[in-house]
Amino acid sequence: MVKLGVNIDHVATVRQARGGHDPEPVAAAALAELAGADGITIHLREDRRHIQDRDVRLLRQTISTRLNLEMALAEEIIAIALEVEPDSVTLVPEKRRELTTEGGLDVIGNMDAVSRAVERFRQRDIIVSLFIDPDPAQVDAGARTGADFVEIHTGRYGDAGGASARAAELELIEDACIAARNLGLGLNAGHGLNYLNVGPVAAIAGMQELNIGHSIVGRAVLVGLERAVREMKELIAEACRP
Ligand code: PXP
Repeated sequence: MVKLGVNIDHVATVRQARGGHDPEPVAAAALAELAGADGITIHLREDRRHIQDRDVRLLRQTISTRLNLEMALAEEIIAIALEVEPDSVTLVPEKRRELTTEGGLDVIGNMDAVSRAVERFRQRDIIVSLFIDPDPAQVDAGARTGADFVEIHTGRYGDAGGASARAAELELIEDACIAARNLGLGLNAGHGLNYLNVGPVAAIAGMQELNIGHSIVGRAVLVGLERAVREMKELIAEACRP
């Protein structure tokens, strides 16, 4: 069955809004694992807007599935990853002003830098995945770097408005997946997947793991809100009892 990597970055986004300890990503990771997550994914961004260095270290010690660290090709972050040794790293492009990862890694244009990073991680037995657009030429370049996996960027599929645009984006993803399989690469996908659009991507032959964050954390806020309000009402009622 296709595995689910739960991206908990946005638990940290909520915490960072107040700068305290709540909600704690380590607790979120444990609950996600209890619910069946096959792995936990986090992105240590250079601007540290959500996940912090201490989260990476604590999650490395506490999670019982697999830790996948998304990261840019930045020496500072590479050094942290080599020290913490996550089970896998996913190399992504990163722009400071973007709201989220906007496009796939340009492996073709950064062949030497990507290959060097892959080699450093492979020497430590850390699995390497490259987050790339659904473009067979990028898949081909990815294979030449020695990476173990590609993660096909499903963001444009997720954003596509209307059935025909979505079908066209899905076809691009399927073609990229065929290219990855033919080259013997492991196959993951992610970005913009939600409760309505995940099915066709999960059904692609050879798909191994989906990394999903925003829609899961967003849904957790909604399905958990009723209970959270009820518990606060009960505490207040208890305190007001004569
Ligand atoms: N995969 C990669 C490489 C990502 O950068 C992200 C976003 O951090 C995701 C998957 C998850 O995307 P989303 O939050 O839209 O589910």
